[in-house]
Amino acid sequence: MEIVIIGSGNVASVLGRKFKAAGHTIAQVYSRNASAASHLAYEWDTESTNYKSLIYQKADVYLIAVPDDAIDEVVNELKLPGKVVAHTAASVSRDILKDVSPHHGVFYPLQSLRKEMPVTTEIPMFIDASDDKSRRILEELATSISAEKVSSAPDSERLKFHVAAVVVSNFTNHLYALAEQYCKKEGISFKQLLPLIEETALRIRTISPKEAQTGPAVRHDRDTIQKHIELLKDDPALHNIYVLMTESIQQFK
Ligand SMILES: NC(=O)c1ccc[n+]([C@@H]2O[C@H](COP(=O)([O-])OP(=O)(O)OC[C@H]3O[C@@H](n4cnc5c(N)ncnc54)[C@H](OP(=O)(O)O)[C@@H]3O)[C@@H](O)[C@H]2O)c1
Repeated sequence: MEIVIIGSGNVASVLGRKFKAAGHTIAQVYSRNASAASHLAYEWDTESTNYKSLIYQKADVYLIAVPDDAIDEVVNELKLPGKVVAHTAASVSRDILKDVSPHHGVFYPLQSLRKEMPVTTEIPMFIDASDDKSRRILEELATSISAEKVSSAPDSERLKFHVAAVVVSNFTNHLYALAEQYCKKEGISFKQLLPLIEETALRIRTISPKEAQTGPAVRHDRDTIQKHIELLKDDPALHNIYVLMTESIQQFK
C-alpha cells in the first residue's frame, strides 16, 4: 500500500518503520516539524513536506499521528475524498475525520510507543472504520504489522481501553520514577529492583493481579506499614501515594 504519514513523533516513527518492514511504500511524511519530517523521509527513502497544501494526493492511506488535541487543527481544510484517512488516538472519535473523507477510521496501537524502540516490538492493533472500504484496508494494514489478531473497537470501547492502558502503563511508570528518585535520595540502587519489577509483570500472564498481590498492605502488617510511612514523612508525593495505595489494597474486594 502507499501511505502518507502525518506527524513525525513517536507513533509516526514506529508505525512508519513497521510499514516499511512489511513492504509498504511511505509516499510522504508531512509534519509541521520540517527537520523531524525530513529525518524520517531520509530513513524511509521518500519525500517530506511541512506545507499542508503540498500533501501528496494519490496515496491509499493517510495516517494522522499528532497529539489528540491537535487532530482538529491538522485536519482543518484537509480534503482527501476517496482516500482512507485514519488517526491513531484511542480517546478521539473517528467522526473528527468525517469532513476529510467519507472513508475514515481509527488505527490505534495499544502499546507504549517511543521512537527508539525496535521494529520487532509487538503491537496489538485496534481499528474502527466508517464503512466497508476503510475497514477492509485498515484491517489489512494492521494485519501486515501485527502478529496478534487485529481487533475492532468503536469509540466507546477504545476510550475504556485507554483508561486501563493509562493505569497499567503510565501510572505504573510514574511509580517507577518516584521510586527511582527515592532510591537516589537515599543512596540505594534502583537497578537492584529490576528483577522484582520484571517478576511482578510476568506473573500476571498466569494468575490475576488480585491473586498475585503480596506485601505488607495485603498482609495487614501494621507495624511495618507505620515504619514505612514514618520514613516517607519528608517525601510528600510518595507518602501520599503510599497511604492511598495501602488503603486501596486493603479495601479491594
Ligand atoms: N506514544 C504512544 O505510546 C501512543 C500509543 C497509542 C496511541 N497514541 C496516539 O498517537 C498520537 C500521537 O502520539 P505520539 O506519542 O506520536 O505524539 P508525539 O511523539 O508527541 O508526536 C506528535 C507529532 O505531532 C506534531 N504536533 C504536535 N502538535 C501539533 C500541532 N498543534 N499541529 C501539528 N502538528 C503537531 C509533533 O510535531 P512537533 O515535533 O513540532 O511538536 C509531532 O510530529 C496521539 O493521538 C496519541 O494519543 C500514542
